[in-house]
Amino acid sequence: MRRVVFNQKGGVGKTSIAVNLAAISAARGFRTLIVDLDVQGNTSYYLGNEQPLNLQYADDRDDAPDGTIADLFKQTMKCFKFGSQKSTDFIHETAYEDLFLMPSSPALNLMERDLESRYKIYKLREALEHFGEDFDRVYIDTPPCFNFYSRSALIAADSVLIPFDCDSFSLQSLYSLRNNILEIREDHNPDLEIEGIVVNQFNSQARLPSEMLKDLKHEGLPLFETTLPSSVKMKESHQRQVPLIYFAGSHKLTQSYLDLFDEIEATQRMGSFTRQGWDSNAPIH
Ligand SMILES: Nc1ncnc2c1ncn2[C@@H]1O[C@H](COP(=O)(O)OP(=O)(O)OP(=O)(O)O)[C@@H](O)[C@H]1O
Ligand SMILES: [Mg+2]
Repeated sequence: MRRVVFNQKGGVGKTSIAVNLAAISAARGFRTLIVDLDVQGNTSYYLGNEQPLNLQYADDRDDAPDGTIADLFKQTMKCFKFGSQKSTDFIHETAYEDLFLMPSSPALNLMERDLESRYKIYKLREALEHFGEDFDRVYIDTPPCFNFYSRSALIAADSVLIPFDCDSFSLQSLYSLRNNILEIREDHNPDLEIEGIVVNQFNSQARLPSEMLKDLKHEGLPLFETTLPSSVKMKESHQRQVPLIYFAGSHKLTQSYLDLFDEIEATQRMGSFTRQGWDSNAPIH
């Protein structure tokens, strides 16, 4: 099962959600891979993987591999077959059992135009089909824009989790986000599901966010029942580079993450995607 965590709006919680769900998944005994497709490298940092210093990239230069996802993309420029590569070239153990990381690289920025112009948009999917067989769960963290990498991720994934932070600008961007996802499904990945919207930094005491959620539910948007509260523990967990279940196991936010993980897994088991309403190609009014 490959899940991409995507919202083109910045700072809504993509990285926090991808890393913490992946950490819980691994702790539950699923062999789990997290792919960091964001050049900011926040997922890689969060899991203790500092970015490599080698910022060089030129497609005609055989520059040294840095053990990141950039190597994988560089190899695709040389018409390589994934069968000839070892997964350990790009996939690394983390400090946590059953949790593996394909780290980001600053080189992604420099490579993007070449990859785009050479139509490498399906290569991540091919790579994950090849290497992903070893994993029960794959989570993909994406950059805050609809660029080559986020589109590659949407093409490579089975489903999308959409973080949403109850802000009115986020609300506006939800509709264009949905259209972008549906376009990818139409053109490239017919099996892609919008698995659900994860409400992050939810303040149940404030009137506005609660009303906003009520309206969204009324409109038929696929919101998960579990919401994630706001807590300073999240920032602390980033700073300490330790996912919440290991950093603050009994905290309310961690419990919400555990509930969210269970809800997502239960939804997957029930196979309850119905392609109605928000997840259908029909326009929403
Ligand atoms: N539940 C939460 N409570 C408090 N702070 C949170 C919560 N979730 C995320 N944050 C904070 O919000 C900020 C943005 O979170 P995060 O980096 O996960 O978002 P993002 O969507 O990945 O951002 P970007 O678009 O830059 O990649 C971070 O400082 C993070 O610590
Ligand atoms: Mg991020």
